[in-house]
Amino acid sequence: MKLDEFLRLNAPEDLAGLTAAIAMASLTVWESIPFKSGLLSEVNPSGETQKAIDVYSNDAFVEALTGTGLASEVASEEMAEPVEAKGGVSVAMDPLDGSSNVDTNNPIGSIFGFYSKKLPTAGKNLTGALYVTYGSMVTLTFSFGKGVHRFVAVRDGGSMGFELLGVNLKLPAKPEVYGFGGARKDWIPPVARFWHSLEERGLRNRYCGTFVGDYNQVLTRGGIFSYPALVNRPRGKLRVLYESAPMAYINQQAGGYASDGEGNILDIAPTELAETSPLYIGSEPLVREVEGDILSEKS
Ligand code: F6P
Ligand code: MN
Repeated sequence: MKLDEFLRLNAPEDLAGLTAAIAMASLTVWESIPFKSGLLSEVNPSGETQKAIDVYSNDAFVEALTGTGLASEVASEEMAEPVEAKGGVSVAMDPLDGSSNVDTNNPIGSIFGFYSKKLPTAGKNLTGALYVTYGSMVTLTFSFGKGVHRFVAVRDGGSMGFELLGVNLKLPAKPEVYGFGGARKDWIPPVARFWHSLEERGLRNRYCGTFVGDYNQVLTRGGIFSYPALVNRPRGKLRVLYESAPMAYINQQAGGYASDGEGNILDIAPTELAETSPLYIGSEPLVREVEGDILSEKS
């Protein structure tokens, strides 16, 4: 099934329009990566200044989203202030997650949260979320509150389109993989102990250094991803509004749980657009376990 037909049958009209716009813009972003990242020089007859890939992708998605007339504002990790628009949905995005991984051709991605309230606001006000992977395949994984669904980019005649890859995705019951960001020496002690126990239990350590890529394998294989609290950086690295909450929303729809080490990520009400928190996300029993270890160390 093609994306447009699926959205028509399964998505509220506003989120369907925003998702279709993101889908098309993601292909433009993907095609531009070798050029805008500076790996290939681009022929540019007008002589205009070339933008870095993260600025380019930010601008491409802002234009696509505001062009729908469905977004009330677009906030982005790449902008200090949101762009105001005329519609009803607040969109928060990380336009190119893991952009420092372009040179090595590791997967990178884009993350979008659709919020019903003005930003910044809590993840419990999400009405939908979506992430794009630019990996061995370009995929869209999204939820509008009724399960998690996935589409893949394929050639459709002369142009590219999106074909259904899976509906109602769920985290497998038996977890297989884990990936933790930051340097091991900097992790708070309960996280370091938990990480060692995962190895002893026979899970496999798989870490690519892009949140979207690392989470995507957790959704497929079961397990846990974390960018934990660090001893000298207790609020972690990942941004609640742009990264952690939208992925936590999708993860919850897939049967999982995401915590900041104290409670549900979706309950955090950020007061700053770029506010960060520690993140533990994936299979519910593993996330509950590390959350319990962290809480009991504090008490
Ligand atoms: O957005 C920040 C990010 O690039 C994430 O995609 C990734 O999970 C994290 O940084 C990796 O950080 P580190 O290199 O410290 O492990
Ligand atoms: Mn990011």
